[in-house]
Amino acid sequence: MSNTVIVGAQWGDEGKGKIIDILSKDADYVVRYQGGNNAGHTVVIVSEEFIFHLIPSGVLHKKAICVIGNGVVVDPKALLSEIAMLRSKGIEASGKVFVSEQAHVIFPYHQTMDSLRESKKGKIGTTKRGIGPCYADKVSRCGIRVQDLLDPKALKEKLQSNIEEKNKSLAAIYKFEGFSFDGIYKEYLEYGREIKKYVTNTTFLINNAIAKKKRVLFEGAQGTLLDIDHGTYPYVTSSNATAGGACTGTGVGPSRIDKVIGVVKAYTTRVGEGPFPTEFEAPLMEKIRKKGKEYGATTGRPRRCGWFDAVLGRYSVMVNGIDELVVTKLDVLDDLDKIKIAVGYKFNGKLYKDFPTNSTVVEGCEPVYETHDGWLEDTTRVKKLSGLPLNARKYINRLEKLLGAHVSMVSTGSKRDQLIKRID
Ligand code: GDP
Ligand code: IMO
Ligand code: MG
Repeated sequence: MSNTVIVGAQWGDEGKGKIIDILSKDADYVVRYQGGNNAGHTVVIVSEEFIFHLIPSGVLHKKAICVIGNGVVVDPKALLSEIAMLRSKGIEASGKVFVSEQAHVIFPYHQTMDSLRESKKGKIGTTKRGIGPCYADKVSRCGIRVQDLLDPKALKEKLQSNIEEKNKSLAAIYKFEGFSFDGIYKEYLEYGREIKKYVTNTTFLINNAIAKKKRVLFEGAQGTLLDIDHGTYPYVTSSNATAGGACTGTGVGPSRIDKVIGVVKAYTTRVGEGPFPTEFEAPLMEKIRKKGKEYGATTGRPRRCGWFDAVLGRYSVMVNGIDELVVTKLDVLDDLDKIKIAVGYKFNGKLYKDFPTNSTVVEGCEPVYETHDGWLEDTTRVKKLSGLPLNARKYINRLEKLLGAHVSMVSTGSKRDQLIKRID
């Protein structure tokens, strides 16, 4: 395995966690490059389920060094609780997990700003983890970085100025009573002391590893259509979830990346607000949500479900430069008689074959579907592609053709061994 980016090719929750865990067996480093604890990546080992929010999903493998890169926004409380969870399972993070000293830190005022904004009309449906406001501070150049938590003087100055500014605007806009400096300063200094042993210059760590021919897996969070630039703006997250984010979010140059793998569900889901052309109507929505256990791994919110959208998928293959696809959750479609795939959008009498960046079109379009016969057989125990029912193989072949990328793996269950590796 070479240096590979794994990216969600829809609206997140494609099953990246499972695939990253499997690929991590052969990786030396597994690196998160963007997002924060808005992510929820599920890994199932036998019957035990782990949900990772910040720590890379390769952490269950003995050898893998896990890195939280500069592009991630870090809630230290969430990080420490994940480290404690791992410790309770006999996995020691010290010497195994590293956090970039350049990563930005999420503070309580970010979470409050996120929640208050969400209480207004026109909400995004965020995870309310403070992700957007933290990235906004980063871009406004008033953010506080992990290295600042290790420097009481720097933290004091920066936190004082941030709290003063935030309190004024929160009071003016929301009549919010305000934050007091002392408590937050003390709390975050303590976090600094606790996370110090994990903090390092991860840009050098990863680049030195690459120079020594170590294998690096870059773990994308969220998904392509949630990308701040390429997603369904403004219903997106605040980072570059696409493959390009792996470079800026780690300090690794594009020429060092060998491969991009896109993960897609055999259908589509999204959590939160925003356009979703292929969204199911009520009865099918319930059926697939139940069968696919489509509830958010971070917030527990019911996920919206719909047919596979090849217009969106093809766009994802393009903007990420996807070399290979992994199709997950094929088993969830096992008992459907007919299965639809969107191959175009219609809006105001015009046919769109390519994903439109105009949100009015995506909001208002009617998908153009092709309909396929289902396979009506259980696929959860199939080990080889040739063991899949003919119509399931036809479905995979059709996705490949429509998206213009090779499907290298098909997943038919949440466990490690429920994976078909395609060798042809
Ligand atoms: P991620 O955010 O992309 O890592 O995905 P999530 O963990 O949020 O959601 C994927 C869910 O689907 C998790 O509960 C996984 O355990 C589960 N899952 C992954 N692959 C499969 C599969 O092939 N079939 C089924 N039925 N469940 C799967
Ligand atoms: P993983 O990595 C699915 C969605 C939220 C909301 C929007 C903005 O598990 O695939 P934010 O809190 O990021 O400001 O919310 O993005 N969202 C996700 N949806 N999977 C995720 O992560 C998500 N992370 C954020 O629901 O619509
Ligand atoms: Mg998830």
